[in-house]
Amino acid sequence: MSGRSASPGSNRRQSERLPPEARTSTTKTWLGPDLPAPGDTSVHCLDSDRRPNRGFSARATARRALLQALLSCCWILLLTACSTPVFDVVVASSAPATDGAVVCVEPLAASAGARVLADGGNAIDAAVATALALAVTWPEAGNLGGGGFMLVRLADGTSSFVDYREKAPNAAGPDLFLDEQGEVDPHHVRLGFRPVGVPGTVAGLALVHDRFGRLPWARLVQPAIQLAEAGFKVSPALATSIASAARELALCDRARAVFLHPDGSPLEEGERLRQVDLAWSLKRIAAMGRDAFYTGMIARRIVADSEKRGGILQLEDFQAYEAVVREPLSGTYRGYEVIAGPPPTGGGAILLESLNQLEQFELGRLEPGSARELHLLGEVLRRAFLDRALHLGDSDFVAVPLDRLVSKEHALGLAAGIDPHRASTSDSIAGDLAGTLLPAESDSTTHFSVIDRDGNAVSNTYTLEESWGAKVVASGTGIVLNNEMHDFNVQPGVSSRAGRVGTAPNLIAPGKRMLSSMCPVILTRDRQLFLVAGSPGGRTIPSTVLRVVTAVIDHRLHPADAVRLARVHHGLYPDLLSIEERASIATVRSLESMGHSIRRRRRQGDCHVIGRHPDTGRFIAVADDRLAGAAGIVLQRD
Ligand code: DON
Repeated sequence: MSGRSASPGSNRRQSERLPPEARTSTTKTWLGPDLPAPGDTSVHCLDSDRRPNRGFSARATARRALLQALLSCCWILLLTACSTPVFDVVVASSAPATDGAVVCVEPLAASAGARVLADGGNAIDAAVATALALAVTWPEAGNLGGGGFMLVRLADGTSSFVDYREKAPNAAGPDLFLDEQGEVDPHHVRLGFRPVGVPGTVAGLALVHDRFGRLPWARLVQPAIQLAEAGFKVSPALATSIASAARELALCDRARAVFLHPDGSPLEEGERLRQVDLAWSLKRIAAMGRDAFYTGMIARRIVADSEKRGGILQLEDFQAYEAVVREPLSGTYRGYEVIAGPPPTGGGAILLESLNQLEQFELGRLEPGSARELHLLGEVLRRAFLDRALHLGDSDFVAVPLDRLVSKEHALGLAAGIDPHRASTSDSIAGDLAGTLLPAESDSTTHFSVIDRDGNAVSNTYTLEESWGAKVVASGTGIVLNNEMHDFNVQPGVSSRAGRVGTAPNLIAPGKRMLSSMCPVILTRDRQLFLVAGSPGGRTIPSTVLRVVTAVIDHRLHPADAVRLARVHHGLYPDLLSIEERASIATVRSLESMGHSIRRRRRQGDCHVIGRHPDTGRFIAVADDRLAGAAGIVLQRD
C-alpha cells in the first residue's frame, strides 16, 4: 500500500480533507443519557446541581442514526469498489479515526506514527515509530535514554503491560544522593550522570515489536532517523521548552552543541534542529535492534561518558537490563472495565482506588467542574495517595498488597470518611504517619494513544523524569539521559509535610525500579474498546486521568470536552488542592469555603485520548491542546 503524508504545516488543506464533524465544535453530551448502574446501590445521594436532561432529543437521535446508516452504506460501497485501499494521513486536533490514529504531543511524530498505520502497520508498529520519532522531535520527554510503560490491548481482547521502566545501577544504594551530613545533595539528585537510571526505552520498544509488531523494525526507526538527520523546524512549543531548560543544558557541552547557539542562547522557533549524533545512534538501532543500545557501541559510549563525569553506570548494568511483560491491573468503574498498570507504577492503583471510592457517590448528578464535584475528586485522591506512600514500590523487591488496595471493600472504608460538603485534613487521614509525602512534581514525560483499523490499541507513557532528564547528552550518541533515580525515596526515613517521602518500599536498591505515577489506561465496555488515555505530570498523572475518565463516564461528555475540563490534584501532602487556572474564581472560592487550601497552576498534564462510542462504534481521536498536541489520522483515499 502506498499513500501520501500531508505536511503537518498545511492545516487548511488537511482540515478540508477531514469529515465535517472534525471541523465543528463537539457536542456537549457524547454518550446517551442512561447512566449505567453503579456496582453498589448504597451510594451517597447528592443533591443534584446539574440540569436533569443533557442528552440528545429523540428526533435528533433518530436523524443522526439515519444519517449514520446512510454514511455506513456509502462507506461499504466505497470499500468494495476499491480492492486495494490507499490511505492518507492528515493531522488535526480532534477527528474521527475509522482507519486508525496516533495522538501525541507533537505533530511530526503523530504523522510518522499514522504513516506507519497507513502503510499497513498495526497499532504496535505505529507506537514504536511514534516513540522513536518523539525522541527526536520532543526531546524534553520523548526518549531513547529514559523509560516508561506501554499498555497494549489487541483486538482479540487480550491485554499486556510492557514495563520498560529504568533500573537502578548495580552500584546504587539507599544513600546514593546523601552528603556527609546525611542531607540530599540538591545538584547530584537532579543533574549530571548520578541520577541516571539504566534506560529501558529501546528494550521496551524492541520487546513489543518482537511480540506484536507487523512491519520490519528498520521501517519503524526510519522516520526518526530522517527527522534527526535532515532536521526539522523548531516549533513554538519546542522553542519554549529549550528556552526554559537552557541554563542547565548549557552545563553539558554535548547538550549545548545541539540545542543552544554557541553563545548559550536557545535555538528559536523556526530554526532547524539537526541531531547528527542521534541519527548515528538511531541507525545502529535500526540495524542491530536492542543490542546496539545494550551491548554495543551506544552502551559503551554512555558508560565511558558516565565514568568520566562522576556517574556509576557500568556496562554490566546495560547488559543485564530487561523490559518485562506484566499482567495488567484491572478493575471496574460503573460497569466499565479499567485496564491499567501494576507496580512499579503506582498510577494504576491510585486511579482504581480513586474510582472505587467515587462509586460511592452520584458524581453524575453534579455539574462537571463544579466545586462539589472537584471536592470529591480531591478527597478520593488524597486518600489513595496515603496508600501510595505506605505500600507502593517495585513489586519485584517489596511485597505490595495490591489486591487489597484496589478492592471495593477497601474503597468503601476510605469513602466512608468523606464529607461531600467539607474538606478533610490530610493530618487526620495520615494519623501517626502525618508528614509522609510528596515532592513537587516536575513537568516532563509524554503520553500517546494509538488505535489501528483492526481495533488494536496502545496506551503509552514514557519519560526522562524531569523535562530534559538529567540535562546531559551522552557523548557521541545524541541521547538525552534521564534523571529517573530521583523518583526513588532518596532520603531514607525522612518525610516531611512539605513533601519529602522517606518510606521503605521505594528506597534505592541495585537493579530495582523506581516507583512511578505514570498511568496509561485502556477502558472497555462489554468487551469493546471504549477509551485509551494517559498523561504526563508526575504525581498529578492519575489525577488527570481520573478527571478525563469520570468526565466521559459520569458526565457522558465527549472526550474533547472531557480533556478541556479544569483538572485538580491532591497528593495528601502538602495539604493543598491544586487546580488549573482555567477553573473559575467562583469555583475556587467555593472550594475554599469547603475548607480546601488551594494552589492554582497554569496547566496540569497533557492527556491524549482516543474514544470509541459504544453505540456507533466510531473512534474519535482527541489531542490535548495544553502543549502542542496533534492527532495523526489515517483516512482512506477516495
Ligand atoms: O515516573 C514518574 O511518575 C515520573 N518520573 C514522571 C515525571 C513526570 O511526569 C514529569 N512531568 N510531567
